[in-house]
Order: sequence, then structure tokens, then C-alpha cells
Amino acid sequence: VGVETFAQAVSNWQKSEGRHHLPWQNTRDPYRIWLSEIMLQQTQVGTVIDYYHRFLKRFPTLADLARASQADVLAYWAGLGYYARARNLHRCAQTVMEQWGGKFPETPEQIATLPGIGRSTAAAIAAFSFGGRAPILDGNVKRVFTRFFGVFGYTGTKAVETELWSIAQAILDHGPRDLDMISYTQGLMDLGATRCTRTKPDCTHCPLTTSCYANLNNAQKALPSARPR
Ligand code: ADE
Repeated sequence: VGVETFAQAVSNWQKSEGRHHLPWQNTRDPYRIWLSEIMLQQTQVGTVIDYYHRFLKRFPTLADLARASQADVLAYWAGLGYYARARNLHRCAQTVMEQWGGKFPETPEQIATLPGIGRSTAAAIAAFSFGGRAPILDGNVKRVFTRFFGVFGYTGTKAVETELWSIAQAILDHGPRDLDMISYTQGLMDLGATRCTRTKPDCTHCPLTTSCYANLNNAQKALPSARPR
């Protein structure tokens, strides 16, 4: 596995070994996908699931969310923390209704202009909703990339962050034209969450293990590099 085969290997692995029954999978509704990605930004999957179902029961569509009061939205967010996410979510629903005619924008660039949506979240929403081809880079994915490519240096610095975005983009540039962006994007998340974990990476069940820098050099514990102190 190298930069040319990385994406296909991850996509294939996701189809056979990845997660397929999370509540926000098996839908292409950008509203549902967007909601899940915002909840998952700072909260674990296991906690999000109940909140996600309750939230969608009360606000089944983006239009329902846009016309609700902020107090009502916050009440359904209570317990998830990082309440700026809920306020941005509400503003975002109103922006899509007022400026996009109620239709969620489709390109990663357009999606990233919305309140509370950064580059990686925009790419995930575009991939899962519309099959869009743009790289993601969240904490789990940073761990996969630093280990596989042997990227040293604290990932919280601008220089390392820039390098990781370049790698993320290069993988797509060198990947197959017909890459399935849904399984590739979900596969990166699934690898980071279920195989390439922070403390106990399961390299024997990873599709990238034969060419992973960290596995080949026994550097799983050294990567990603610790925050300097
Ligand atoms: N974390 C962020 N996005 C996710 C997704 N789509 N599935 C599982 N965990 C995630």
C-alpha cells in the first residue's frame, strides 16, 4: 500500500470490516448527516446515538429546526456540551432556509461557508450526502496519517497540520477516479476508531499494516508525537 493504493485499500476494508449500522449511515439526507457530524465533533459515538434520535424526533427536517426557538434547540442539546455547536446549528438551519432556498449546499466549499462547519466537516457532509471528493482531517484521521506516513511533530502546530492536509489531498489526487467517497471517508473514521486507536492499535487487523511506517518501525506509541511541554 502506497499513496496510490491507500484510498482503495481503505474503501475496500470499510466495505468488509467497517461500521455499517450507525444511525446516520444508510441515508443521503444532508440534514441528518450534518446533524450527526456536528454532534460527533466533540462527543463519542456511544453518547451521540440517543441524542441524535431524540433530536430528529423533535426536529425531523431542517425547516423544523430553523423555525424552532433557540431555547427549544438548546433543550434538546442539553448534556452534550459545547453549546456553541447548538447555537451554530440553529443559525445554520436558518441560513440554509433563507440563503439557499431550503436546499443544503452541495460542494465542500459552499458547505464550509456555513456557521460552525470547518473544512473537514464540510468534506464529510459533501462525501456522505453527495459523494463529493474532498479530504477529511479530524483527530482520528490525523493519527492514521501520522502513523502510516511517519509524520513527526505535534499535530497541533500549523506546519504539521498543513503537511497532513497535503497528504490527505495527495491521497485523493493519486487515488482511482472511481473511488467510492462514502466508504473511503467512513473507512478513515472507522480505522481510527476501531483499529488505529490511540493506546492499543490493532495492527494485525489493519488493511494498511504491511506498509505502515509506525508498524514497520514499532513507532505506534511515538506517533502522533506528544504535545511539547
Ligand atoms: N465521527 C465523525 N463522523 C463520524 C461518522 N460519520 N461515523 C462515526 N464517527 C464519526
